[in-house]
Amino acid sequence: MPKAELHIHIEGSLEPELIFKLAKCNKVSLPYHSVEALRSAYAFTDLQSFLDIYYAGASVLLYEQDFYDMAMAYLQRAVNDHVIHAEIFFDPQTHTDRGVPIAHVINGLHRACVDAQIKWNVDASLILCFLRHLSEDAAIETFEQAIPHRHQFIGVGLDSSEVGHPPEKFTRVFAKAKALGLHVVAHAGEEGPPAYIWSALDVLHVERIDHGVQSDQDDALMARLIASRMPLTVCPLSNQKLCVFPDLQQHNIGRMLDAGVCVTINSDDPAYFGGYINDNFVQTFDALGLDEKAAYQLACNSFEASFVSAEQKNKWIQQLDYFVETF
Ligand code: HPA
Ligand code: ZN
Repeated sequence: MPKAELHIHIEGSLEPELIFKLAKCNKVSLPYHSVEALRSAYAFTDLQSFLDIYYAGASVLLYEQDFYDMAMAYLQRAVNDHVIHAEIFFDPQTHTDRGVPIAHVINGLHRACVDAQIKWNVDASLILCFLRHLSEDAAIETFEQAIPHRHQFIGVGLDSSEVGHPPEKFTRVFAKAKALGLHVVAHAGEEGPPAYIWSALDVLHVERIDHGVQSDQDDALMARLIASRMPLTVCPLSNQKLCVFPDLQQHNIGRMLDAGVCVTINSDDPAYFGGYINDNFVQTFDALGLDEKAAYQLACNSFEASFVSAEQKNKWIQQLDYFVETF
């Protein structure tokens, strides 16, 4: 099916083979001796146990070309999975804190988006994420460094360690981003409580919630999400690998879809969680026994939830309808 991917951290698409290749070229030492040793460390118990390895993997990225190569590798896989539009997260602070200029990060990623459009006819744009375990002042400093690149990204987001770092910690920087006309999203309710989803909505004024799977603990929140068609970018394999749900059979995405929530399926950090977007679809559909109607609704939701014009959304939904009619 043609679809959009709206929750993918580009640093989470870095495959172990590329990590080792870049480590060698850039003379960065890693705490793992081989691709196999690194892969065998991918046994996560929660979000933090993943983030520790994810930041170690990202330490091999130094030059503009590294960011370009990483993004082209992701976009090629996304195209193979029939992704026609991707909104890609990146974490500048993971790189600027190691002395990498923000221009290397953004120019490399943006050049890949431009070239992928020419090469594969895929539409891709970038969302700059702030690391929530760092201070709001650090986020503001990063945002100011990114302003000269304003035309190269479409929005800002919030990721990293959730519990203890509520959305309201970032009120000022999100207000600045909104004032510049950027889109705003935030991870909320992955491990954190429904209260974090409320404050992402009411304090940060986000347009989508990333994850949001804890919403079903709060009936009033569910009613609000349904009535407002507030999208949730859900990542089933991520939730399984980080033990948010004990297994995919227990995942609530099917129940939320039935209840009328605008949920979408995404890969989050595909190199770490055992699969790209189609793997997420196939394994979730197998585990939950979802049908063609659910597949259509999820693809349709991915276009509805994307940050493009109403006209572009309609074109993509027509493309989806044509695919379904001729399947
Ligand atoms: N949650 C929070 N931060 C992240 C994630 C995630 O799933 N992936 C990469 N950074
Ligand atoms: Zn994420």
